[in-house]
Amino acid sequence: MRNLLPLISSHPGGRSALTCRYRCGDACFHETPNTSDNAYVGDVIAGAASRRSLLRAGAVVTVAAATGVVAVERAPQASAAANSAAAPAAAAKGKAARGLRFAPVAPNTEDVVVTAEGHDQNVVIRWGDPILRGAPAFDPDKQSAKAQEGQFGYNNDYMAVLDVPGERDHQLLVVNHEYTDEVLMFAGYDPENPTREQAEIGWAAHGLSVVVTAEERRLGRLTAVPRHRLNRRITATTAFEVTGPAAGSELLRTSADPSGKRILGTLNNCGGGITPWGTVLSGEENFNQYFANAGSVTDPTTAARLKRYGIAGAASERKWERFDDRFDVVKEPNETNRFGWVIEIDPFDPDSTPRKLTALGRFKHEAAEPRLTSDGRPVLYMGDDEKFDYFYKFVSAKRMMKGNSRIAREHNRTLLDEGTLYVAKFTGDSPAAEIDGSGKLPKDGEFDGAGEWIPLACGDRSFVEGMTAEEVYVFTRIAADKVGATKMDRPEDVEPSPRTGRVYIALTNNTDRGKADKAPADEANPRNGNKHGQILELTERWNNAGSTRFNWRLFLVCGDPEDPSTYFGGFPKDQVSPISCPDNITFDAYGNLWISTDGNALGNHDGLFGVATAGSRRGEVKQFLTVPTGAETCGPIVQDRRVLVAVQHPGELDGASVEKPASTWPDGPGKLTRPSVISVWRRDGGDIGA
Ligand code: FEO
Ligand code: CA
Ligand code: CA
Repeated sequence: MRNLLPLISSHPGGRSALTCRYRCGDACFHETPNTSDNAYVGDVIAGAASRRSLLRAGAVVTVAAATGVVAVERAPQASAAANSAAAPAAAAKGKAARGLRFAPVAPNTEDVVVTAEGHDQNVVIRWGDPILRGAPAFDPDKQSAKAQEGQFGYNNDYMAVLDVPGERDHQLLVVNHEYTDEVLMFAGYDPENPTREQAEIGWAAHGLSVVVTAEERRLGRLTAVPRHRLNRRITATTAFEVTGPAAGSELLRTSADPSGKRILGTLNNCGGGITPWGTVLSGEENFNQYFANAGSVTDPTTAARLKRYGIAGAASERKWERFDDRFDVVKEPNETNRFGWVIEIDPFDPDSTPRKLTALGRFKHEAAEPRLTSDGRPVLYMGDDEKFDYFYKFVSAKRMMKGNSRIAREHNRTLLDEGTLYVAKFTGDSPAAEIDGSGKLPKDGEFDGAGEWIPLACGDRSFVEGMTAEEVYVFTRIAADKVGATKMDRPEDVEPSPRTGRVYIALTNNTDRGKADKAPADEANPRNGNKHGQILELTERWNNAGSTRFNWRLFLVCGDPEDPSTYFGGFPKDQVSPISCPDNITFDAYGNLWISTDGNALGNHDGLFGVATAGSRRGEVKQFLTVPTGAETCGPIVQDRRVLVAVQHPGELDGASVEKPASTWPDGPGKLTRPSVISVWRRDGGDIGA
C-alpha cells in the first residue's frame, strides 16, 4: 500500500506549490505581467485581519458500496455565533431562502466529499474511464496516448449539461480538462526527462470530453454512458478552425499553418458558458506555461508581447518543446498567439470542427457567459484571470435566430464573429480616502459605484490609438492597458442571474494588491494583500446587456466572518459559513448563487456554497459540500434534484507523487487518486434545498 502524505501545504492556507507549478506555471512567483501605469493612486494602509480557529463538527463516515466511493455526511455546523467574538447581530428570522434549506457543512479537512446531511453521492466519471468506442479500461500501468484519446481526460473543470433531444433520461455533459499533473499520473515520473509517450498522454488528457450521462431513477445515481454516439474527445491535437476578424492574420501564421486559420488543439481550458443556441464555450486560460525559450527572444516588440502574457524563461514545465517545435517560441514565434482564445464547440455534432473565436480577444480567458441584449443580440462576459488584469464583454452585432433549422444554425454560428469588444472601468462613489485598503466599509455603507465599457475594437475598426484591430484582438491585454481599464483582483467566473439580469463576477484573490509599485486598493478591489477574494454584482444601465454604462456593488467580501474586512451582502456575519477564494459560480432555479472555491486560504478544504442574492436572506452563505485533500471544487451545476461538481486535482499537495499520494480519493488506499465528476442528490428524492 502507498504511504499517505501528511497534510502539508507550503503556501499559507491557500494553494499548494504543486498546484501553482502545474496549473498556472507558477504565475504568482513571476513578475505580474501587467506593469502598465494604468493605476489609480491612493493611500495604502495594510489591512490587519483577525484570525480565529474554525469550527469543527463531528462526521459520520459512510461507504457507498455501490460505487466504492468513500463518502462523509456531516452533522450540521454549529452556530458560528457560538464561537464568534464579533458583535452579535440580530438573528435572521424565518427560514433560509428556498433552495438553500439544508444544514451547512462545517469547514473540515476530510479526504472525501462531505455533503450536507441527508444527501447521497456517486462518482459519475473518473479520469481514464473509457468513453469512446474501442477505448480500453483505465490501467495506470499500461496507459498510452492512444488509450487516453478515447478516455475521459485529466483535471475536469468547467461543466455544461444539455438535454439530449429524444432521450428522456439522458443528458449531455461537456467537461474541460484544464491541465495535467504528470507527477500524480505516472509512476516514477522524472520531470527533467519526460518521455515522448508521457508528453503525448498529456496532450490527449487535455482538452474537453463530451459524454452522455444516464440517471438511475430508483437509486438516484448518475452514470456515464460509454460509446454513446454523441461522446467525443477534443485534445491538444484536435484541429480547430479560426474565425472572426483576426482569422488568417499574419500574427497567427506558422510554418505548419501558413493560412493562420487552422490550429491544432486547445490548452488549459477553464470557465466557459452555454450559448442560447446550444453550443458550448470554453476559455483557454494559463496557456503561457506550455511554451519554452521566451527568454531567448531578442526582438523587443515580440519580447514585450510575450512578457505581457506571462510567457517567460527557458524550458517549460512539461518539456513538450522537446517533442514538438511549436512549443518553442524561438522556432515558432507565432504559435503562442494561437492560444488564449475562447473556443466554441457544437456538442450535438461529434464531427463538427471546433472553433477559436478571435472577436472575443486573447487573454487568460475565464468564463464566457452569455446573455441577450433587449433586442436579441448575444453578449458575453469574460474575465482575464491574472492579478491586476481586466474584465471584458463582447456585444454581437447580430440578433440570434430562434429554432433549430439549418438556416438558424448557420446564422447563429456567426454571432460571435462580429461585434464590439469592450473592457471595464470601475469607478467608486466614495471618496478615495475612505478606501484605506483594510476592507473597512466607506461611510455610505457599501463598496459600490458606476462604470463604463470602453470599446477596444469592432470588426476591422480599432478604438485603441497605435494599434490595428488585428493587434487589439491578438494582444488584447496591451490594448486594454492603453485605455484606462481597471486592474482587478483576478476575475474568475462570471454569471448573469437568469432572474434579475444582474451579473456576478468572482474576483478570487490578489495577494499583491497594495504592494509597493503595484496598484493600491480601490473601491471594487478594496483590500490590500487580498487573500480571500470578493464577488461583485454588476447591473447594466437600463438592465440592457448592450449598454455601455453600468452600476456595481460588492455582494460578498470573502473570508472568515470574524475578520472585520468581510461583508456578506449585509447579512448578519455571525450566521454565515466562512468562504475564501470564490471561483466557479452558477445559479439555481430559485435565483440563488452557488459558489465553488479554489485555494481556501482559511486552512480548510475547498467547497461549494449557496447564497441568496435577494430577499431578507440576501448574503446568507451556506456551505453545501467540501472536497478531498488537495482538490478544488469546479464546474458546479445545481439542478432541481441534483448537484454536480468536478473534483479537480485531488491529492495535489507539495511532495505528492504516485508513490506518495496525498489523497486516496475516490477509490481508497492502493488506488491512484483520480480527478472525477460527482453527483449529489437528496436521499429522500426531494428537491435540493427545498
Ligand atoms: Fe482555471 Fe482561473 O481558474
Ligand atoms: Ca460606496
Ligand atoms: Ca477557475
